Amino acid sequence: MARKTKEKWKTYGNVFDEFTLRNLFQLSSRGFFEELQSPIKIGKEANIFTAVTKDSTTVIVKIYRLETCDFNRMLDYIKTDQRYVNIRRSRRKIIFAWTQREFRNIIKAREAGVKVPTPYIFKDNILVMEQIGSPKPAPQLKEAYPEEPEAFYQTTIDYMRMMYLHGLIHGDLSQFNILNDNDNPVFIDFSQGLTTESHGWQDYLRRDIKNVANFFKKLGIDSDQDDLYTQITHK
Ligand SMILES: Nc1ncnc2c1ncn2[C@@H]1O[C@H](COP(=O)(O)OP(=O)(O)OP(=O)(O)O)[C@@H](O)[C@H]1O
Ligand SMILES: [Mg+2]
Repeated sequence: MARKTKEKWKTYGNVFDEFTLRNLFQLSSRGFFEELQSPIKIGKEANIFTAVTKDSTTVIVKIYRLETCDFNRMLDYIKTDQRYVNIRRSRRKIIFAWTQREFRNIIKAREAGVKVPTPYIFKDNILVMEQIGSPKPAPQLKEAYPEEPEAFYQTTIDYMRMMYLHGLIHGDLSQFNILNDNDNPVFIDFSQGLTTESHGWQDYLRRDIKNVANFFKKLGIDSDQDDLYTQITHK
């Protein structure tokens, strides 16, 4: 039986390297999912799949590609994070740390009270989490403008402040990494998130604010970026 299941994973052989295949097989043996469905996004660094579990719920499996990740860019980003200043410069170590950091950041954001996908597990270059939206994944904000932009905007700013107060900056926040789940924002893609103990976090926050302010401007919400910065960071 086990062998048969393993055979099934071999059919993904032309998609994944041996190492990733082994990890996928392990995670599925441990019950995190039964099988992968088609990819919902082939990203710059990661491929995102939906997968079904035994009880027929759908989860998201994010797989960082070991071969084609731009790990020099990853290294530049991750070494500014206080938690990873001493990271070793091996390609794999960096990609694994990157995956781990995303997992830790999602947990931290969740502790702060922000709506994020529930993270289930990470293993090396693979992250498994809750799918936002059901039965289909919720659309990105850029694809689905909110019906009540003012409320959506306010919650987005509240989330940024809640994260800040809990010591976390998203670092890549924009209409691409905010999902619109029935008119409620859900933050995703925390791989660039860093703690406020890290050098230069202010620049990352300013960039997040700029992206958010520019997007909502299109929806008729005018905001001053300096005011927003103060609003988010005041004691
Ligand atoms: N938990 C989730 N629920 C629903 N959809 C998701 C979820 N996670 C990711 N997605 C979808 O997959 C897309 C890509 O995911 P994500 O933003 O995490 O990867 P990426 O932009 O390729 O990442 P990276 O910049 O880290 O390489 C998202 O924009 C979203 O549409
Ligand atoms: Mg993204």
